[in-house]
Amino acid sequence: MQFLLALALAGAAVACSDDHTHAARDGHDHSHAKREFPSTKLAPPSRPLHWASLNIIHTTDSHGWLLGHQKTSFPEPNYSGDFGDFASFVTHMKEIAVEKDVDLLLVDSGDLHDGTGLSDGYPAGGVDAHASNEFFKQLPYDLLAIGNHELYIYNNTLDMHVSCKVLKLFCLQALVRYNNFAPRFNGRYLSSNVNITIDGVSRPVGDRFAKFKTRKGREVTALGVLYDFTGNDKNTTVQPVADMVKEAWFAEAIKDEPDFFLLAGHMPVSKDNWPLVFNAVRAVHPLTPILILGGHTHIRDCLQLDGRSMSLESGRYMETVGWMSAELPAPKGHGSASSSSKNITFTRRYLDPNRVTYEYHTGRGNFSFDTPWGRSITKGLENLAKVFDLSFQFGTAPHDFTINQAPYPSNDSVLSLMAEAMPVAFSLNNSRASLPNIMITNSGSLRFDIYAGPFTKNDQLTASPFADSFLYIPSVPFAAANAVLPALNGAGADERRRDETVEAELWARGYVGTRYTEWLEEMYRRDVEQGGEARHAAANLSLGYVTTDACPGVGDDTPHAPLAFNNIPDFIASDAPAVADDTPIDLVFVDFIESQLIGILNSVQKDKTYTTADILSYTDVLATEVLGIYAQQAWN
Ligand SMILES: *[C@@H]1O[C@H](CO)[C@@H](O)[C@H](O)[C@H]1NC(C)=O
Ligand SMILES: *[C@@H]1O[C@H](CO)[C@@H](O)[C@H](O)[C@H]1NC(C)=O
Ligand SMILES: *[C@@H]1O[C@H](CO)[C@@H](O)[C@H](O)[C@H]1NC(C)=O
Ligand SMILES: *[C@@H]1O[C@H](CO)[C@@H](O)[C@H](O)[C@H]1NC(C)=O
Ligand SMILES: *[C@@H]1O[C@H](CO)[C@@H](O)[C@H](O)[C@H]1NC(C)=O
Ligand SMILES: *[C@@H]1O[C@H](CO)[C@@H](O)[C@H](O)[C@H]1NC(C)=O
Ligand SMILES: *[C@@H]1O[C@H](CO)[C@@H](O)[C@H](O)[C@H]1NC(C)=O
Ligand SMILES: *[C@@H]1O[C@H](CO)[C@@H](O)[C@H](O)[C@H]1NC(C)=O
Ligand SMILES: *[C@@H]1O[C@H](CO)[C@@H](O)[C@H](O)[C@H]1NC(C)=O
Ligand SMILES: [Zn+2]
Ligand SMILES: [Zn+2]
Repeated sequence: MQFLLALALAGAAVACSDDHTHAARDGHDHSHAKREFPSTKLAPPSRPLHWASLNIIHTTDSHGWLLGHQKTSFPEPNYSGDFGDFASFVTHMKEIAVEKDVDLLLVDSGDLHDGTGLSDGYPAGGVDAHASNEFFKQLPYDLLAIGNHELYIYNNTLDMHVSCKVLKLFCLQALVRYNNFAPRFNGRYLSSNVNITIDGVSRPVGDRFAKFKTRKGREVTALGVLYDFTGNDKNTTVQPVADMVKEAWFAEAIKDEPDFFLLAGHMPVSKDNWPLVFNAVRAVHPLTPILILGGHTHIRDCLQLDGRSMSLESGRYMETVGWMSAELPAPKGHGSASSSSKNITFTRRYLDPNRVTYEYHTGRGNFSFDTPWGRSITKGLENLAKVFDLSFQFGTAPHDFTINQAPYPSNDSVLSLMAEAMPVAFSLNNSRASLPNIMITNSGSLRFDIYAGPFTKNDQLTASPFADSFLYIPSVPFAAANAVLPALNGAGADERRRDETVEAELWARGYVGTRYTEWLEEMYRRDVEQGGEARHAAANLSLGYVTTDACPGVGDDTPHAPLAFNNIPDFIASDAPAVADDTPIDLVFVDFIESQLIGILNSVQKDKTYTTADILSYTDVLATEVLGIYAQQAWN
């Protein structure tokens, strides 16, 4: 079970690693036209959005995907809108809100770091996501909350803290450069329970809460809460949510009744601590509307904690833009209590971020959709990709390789590809390459599918972002070495039942793969139960997310059929050599599983007791580099 922990640590270690010089870059040929007028016809949304007196556009867990998803394999075109397109969308939606004379807010729930070349492909000495966040800052967000990925590296947190509030001059420069009505978040970047220590003084990274009025005069009290995350860097502090709600400042902040509470936060709307915050507010204000915008598990999710509240979570990687509407009473003015106890009418929708969606919901066409401001953001992002050399091409992927859509092992599995790539990448300049070996890594190190076509540095980073190194133990008898992988995967033993305390630890450190994967698996299983493919053919459904949540009505804006789902093992290995059981071979493995690997090796054989003294470095090639080196060899 320990290996699961190691797995999480690996994730954290990666996020903590400074070694971003290997990091990948965004890869595409910058032909904006290809996205605008995709050769594949995109299906429009199923129906118009429901507007109410208060409306919210929600983003979360964008992780640097500001140029959108650029590949032509499905479902990627569904998510092909870039942040410039999104900016144009927001502009038009704001205009529509004015025409309808209703409120429209833009909210983000964090995790701006770690994920693409735009965020991670900066030159040595830079700070992750600093450049991409300059574009994020161009959007007129009304409220933002901090995510756990803002906290793995102190400098990243510092960069979030040193905001426009501190460096006014810097922000003004940005204004001039991008020539728009750029937002400065001015007290709306919230970190209710997250501090940074600077010169020995602990202080909130952003603000703890915000009070403001909407355009229509509604008074808002807002919080920005982070779930109980423990993987944060030194000199940053995350206060448990249960303690936060007992703070004097918290009681003071929620004391006066606003027209509604806007609780943004990097915390999943299901199975987490929102009820603590919700109940603390409800104890004082039994009827005041509470709108919750969550994140972190990368899924689409919605529930209502009571009839006068809704909680929405809007996916990941700019694959989803969330929509919430609430039919709130007219603003009543300061201090007056909301008398109604009737349920509030809420709606929610999960939009596929692409130009077809954006144009449909704004009633614009190809030639009236783009705003100069949106265009300038797209241009700026494309320039950034150039500066970071993100489209450097290692080779051409012959077809799609996926994590869960293809079974493992198979020709279409990213995991199988990795298993094949390790021996190739590690054999270069390696005097041990001629000796037989088995090479083991963890499947969790692969974070995104690889699609047919150019395989660039950006693709390398999105697919394999973790800068782990590889170790080996020489002269392990083949039979023992060959028994390690099944033991790591716990084959047969307890069906890999996951220890609850290990799960909790993984969770606290920010490992969200399990919940996201469970979500995919569930939508696929439900679909198979309901008749699967014949039904899709009849309805001509395209591939994508199929959301079932606890809120009324259909959530997905564009109906989809789910992607195929296959379970994958926690660990994978290169093909075993065809040698006799007692042949000595090199047992190569990813560094962070060192201690459990020794334990397992000592349990599958008794001839020798292995210790850390038997472990040596196998190669200078890091996990992040394996696929690129392989592509240079095999895909050119
Ligand atoms: C999503 O992808 C599918 C292909 O699976 C395509 O047919 C559909 O039109 C796309 N939908 C949108 C809204 O982009
Ligand atoms: C953090 O930033 C400071 C100042 O920019 C720099 O001197 C330092 O090396 C950085 N630390 C890390 C770990 O990147
Ligand atoms: C934390 O900050 C203090 C000064 O404020 C500094 O002395 C210390 O080295 C920092 N710790 C780490 C691990 O960066
Ligand atoms: C956060 O900073 C504030 C202001 O300096 C301080 O009062 C509070 O104790 C800190 N909270 C934590 C959890 O460190
Ligand atoms: C109000 O909403 C709550 C929670 O969603 C629900 O249980 C209840 O049935 C609703 N009441 C009415 C009158 O619709
Ligand atoms: C936009 O242009 C493309 C390609 O010319 C066309 O297929 C599409 O129908 C146009 N969309 C609108 C809304 O005009
Ligand atoms: C997998 O790829 C190998 C090598 O290209 C090929 O020989 C084999 O037929 C493929 N298997 C399947 C199931 O496509
Ligand atoms: C192998 O060595 C050559 C020549 O020293 C060098 O150019 C190349 O980058 C090395 N390859 C790897 C994978 O280290
Ligand atoms: C599915 O597509 C076919 C061919 O494009 C079309 O004839 C049929 O009407 C479509 N069916 C539905 C339910 O939209
Ligand atoms: Zn995230
Ligand atoms: Zn997160």
